[in-house]
Amino acid sequence: MNIHKNNNTMELLEKLNWRYATKAMNGEKVAQEKIDTIIEAASLAPTSSGLQPFEIIMITNPDVKAKIRAIAWDQSVVTDCSHLLVFAAWDTYTEERINKMFDLTNEVRGFKNQGWEDYRQMLLSSYPQRDAEYNFNHAARQAYIAFSQAIAAAAFEGVDATPMEGFDPAALDEILNLREKGLRSCVMLPLGYRDLENDWLANLKKVRKSKDDLLTIID
Ligand SMILES: Cc1cc2nc3c(=O)[nH]c(=O)nc-3n(C[C@H](O)[C@H](O)[C@H](O)COP(=O)(O)O)c2cc1C
Repeated sequence: MNIHKNNNTMELLEKLNWRYATKAMNGEKVAQEKIDTIIEAASLAPTSSGLQPFEIIMITNPDVKAKIRAIAWDQSVVTDCSHLLVFAAWDTYTEERINKMFDLTNEVRGFKNQGWEDYRQMLLSSYPQRDAEYNFNHAARQAYIAFSQAIAAAAFEGVDATPMEGFDPAALDEILNLREKGLRSCVMLPLGYRDLENDWLANLKKVRKSKDDLLTIID
C-alpha cells in the first residue's frame, strides 16, 4: 500500500497522526506568521459556488477569551491558547453577498463570461428566497471545510489545535456582536502549544474505526 504514497502524502499522514484534539495548552505564543499561514490554508478551502460564506474572527485579547471560556464548558484551552479562531457563517444568503463574490471573480479574472453570469442569476433567483436557517446551515458546512484545512495546516506548522463545538453559540454571537454583522458562530479553534504534563490525552493512542467500517467499495 505504501508504495503508492509519495513523500508528501506520507508527511501529510504523519502530521495528521501527530495532531490531536489538545485538552491543555501552556499559554506559549504562536508566531503570527504561523497563524497567517493557517488562515491562508482556511481561505484556500473549496466552497459551494466559491461564495466563501463565512468569516474568521481571531482573538488574542485575554478578557474576551475569559468571557468565551465561561460559555464554553470552562474548557481551559480557550484561555490558555495563543490565538482563538472563531468560524462564523453568514446568517443567510443575500443578493448583495452573492453579487459581491461574483463581481470579485470578474475583477480578479479581468473578464465577464455569459455562463458565469447565467449562473449568478440562477443563484440570485433561488438562494436569497430560501429559509434563512437552511441557508445558514449550508453556509456553516462551507465554514467546516475551511476549519478542517486550518486544522491540517496547524499540524504542518507544529501548532496544536482543539476543534471545538462545546460552547453556547448564541452567547458567543452576543460576546462578539456577530448577529449585527449578519454572522452566526459555528465552531472554534484554539491554537497554541500542548501542555504535556496536564494533558490527559497527549500520550493516548489515536482511536479510529476500521477501514471496513468506514469504506464501502463498489467495483
Ligand atoms: C466539530 C468538532 C467539535 C469538537 N468539539 C470539541 C470540544 O468542544 N472539546 C474538545 O475537547 N474536543 C472537541 N472535539 C474534538 C473531538 O472530540 C476529537 O477530534 C475526536 O475525539 C478525535 O480525536 P483526535 O482529534 O484527537 O484525533 C471536536 C471535534 C470536532 C470535529
